This record gives sequence, structure tokens and C-alpha cells, in this order.
Amino acid sequence: MARIVAGVASSHVPAIGAAIDNKQTEEPYWKRVFSGFEKSKEWMKETKPDVAIIVYNDHASAFSVEIVPTFALGCAAEFPPADEGWGPRPVPTVVGHPELASHIAQSVILDEFDLTICNKMEVDHGLTVPMNLLFGSPKEWPCPVIPLAVNVVLYPPPTGHRCYMLGKAIRKAVESYPKDLKVVIFGTGGMSHQISGPRAGLINSKFDKAFLDNLTKDPKKLTRIPHLEFMREAGAEGIEMVMWLIMRGALDDKVDEVYRFYTVPASNTAVGHIILANRKRAAGKRPASKIRRAAARSKADIRRG
Ligand SMILES: [Fe+2]
Repeated sequence: MARIVAGVASSHVPAIGAAIDNKQTEEPYWKRVFSGFEKSKEWMKETKPDVAIIVYNDHASAFSVEIVPTFALGCAAEFPPADEGWGPRPVPTVVGHPELASHIAQSVILDEFDLTICNKMEVDHGLTVPMNLLFGSPKEWPCPVIPLAVNVVLYPPPTGHRCYMLGKAIRKAVESYPKDLKVVIFGTGGMSHQISGPRAGLINSKFDKAFLDNLTKDPKKLTRIPHLEFMREAGAEGIEMVMWLIMRGALDDKVDEVYRFYTVPASNTAVGHIILANRKRAAGKRPASKIRRAAARSKADIRRG
């Protein structure tokens, strides 16, 4: 059986990608940011996932205002880096996992989450920057990736609660996949930032840190934050944080916080990062009746969502 072992959340600031591509990572301004991910890269090397599901948003690269899917799942065999205006980033093509992705699409859609299926899609900094932060800059990415693009660009984005429940449905899908795969799920974007208008440059560290605390301890509280509160407290682009709730929904209720990093600023954005791990269960220790009851509860939860 495939299983999700951990969740990673990370900002996906485009300037971080530019700093990597232009070899500025050792400059003092950027070293402060990159040094916060050194332990995470070590953790990822040790964890060695077989597949990563990466929740991110497209920034008018694969989609435009003509087509705005709320949730778009990448089922292709590969996802080339998109040209975001100055040529594609010099990163390897992202290799997909069409078999697991199709399985997730089937399971999640039959659980009444209407995903858009993308059999061809380019991916932008929203996906590739967190990959660099967690995997470094290898010649080939170390594992296949299933991209899940979420609309947080054009109103109305999905609610935090909907995202959280989709995470639960994704977990159920992964756990019903018969092959033994170790999966890590990413939530990306945020934290507080606003890139235009009179409040451009807004950072709210208090809000961000409380969000990180509750992501570990009380994620259901976060699912009740309305869009307007995200925008008021965390800036217009702070709404990206709903994507972190898909990652969190895919994990156990109680998780271990493995690592956390927060710094301000990178470009005009607060950078937040957290690694949460499901607690290890001793194989065969749970009575079958308990497993059946838990599965029934999770099914009922998903239906309610
Ligand atoms: Fe973004």
C-alpha cells in the first residue's frame, strides 16, 4: 500500500528561483534564506520519497484567465518548466507518475471533488522553487512528482475547509493504491505578502507564526479562516496559504513537527517553511476492527466535506 509519510510546506517566492539560477545563494541576503533549508534537504535525502505530490498555484504560465481550473491534477508523464517571461528556468523537466496520478483522480473525483485532469502541463516557479529548496539543484529530480495546481489567483479561490477535505480525499486515494510507495506531500505559497496596490510589501509575522503553530496543533481552526481575513491579515497573495491546508488534510490529526523556519523578507515576501511527519505505526499493531472504523469515519468525513 502507498502511504503519505510527511508533509512539507514552503513559500515559493520567484526571486528565490532567480537567486539560484543566477548563482547568488552565497550572497548575505540570500544566504539567510537558503541556510534555513539546509536541514530540510538533509531530511529529504534521508526520507527518500518514491513520489512527491506538490500542491502549488500556476501564475498565468500553464493557464490564463481564459481557463481557470480550481483544482488541476497533473497526470502527464512529464512537466516541462514554463517560460515565465525570461525563458524557462534551467531546472530539469519534472517527471510525473501517471499511474498514481490517474488513481488519485479516479478516487478523488468519485469522492465528489471535481478535479481537472491535465495530461499536458508546464510548471512554473510555484512548483520548481520549493523543489529546489527541498531537493537542491540536481541534474535530474530524485523522484517523480504529481503536480496539483490550485486557483488562488482569480476570485473565487477554494475555501481553506475545501482544501483540507481534499487533502483527506487525497490521502484516502494514496492509501488505496496497491503498490508500496512512500509519498511526501507539499503545500506551497505564502506566507504573508502583497505584491501590488497601496499595501504592497505587507508582512504580518504575527499572523504567519500563529498559522505555523496551528498548522501543527489545530489545523481545523485554520480551515475556518475566511478569504477576507487572509487578505486583510496576510495581504492579497496571502490567500496562497489555503494550499498548505491540502497538505495538512492529507496527514494524521496529530503529527510531529520535524522542523520549522521563518524569515523576512525574500523579495517582498515572508518565507515560511515547516516539515510535519505522521507518527510511525508499528505494523500489525492496530486491530482490524479499529482500522475498519477509522476508514468508515474518514469516508464519512470526506462526504461531509
Ligand atoms: Fe505564488
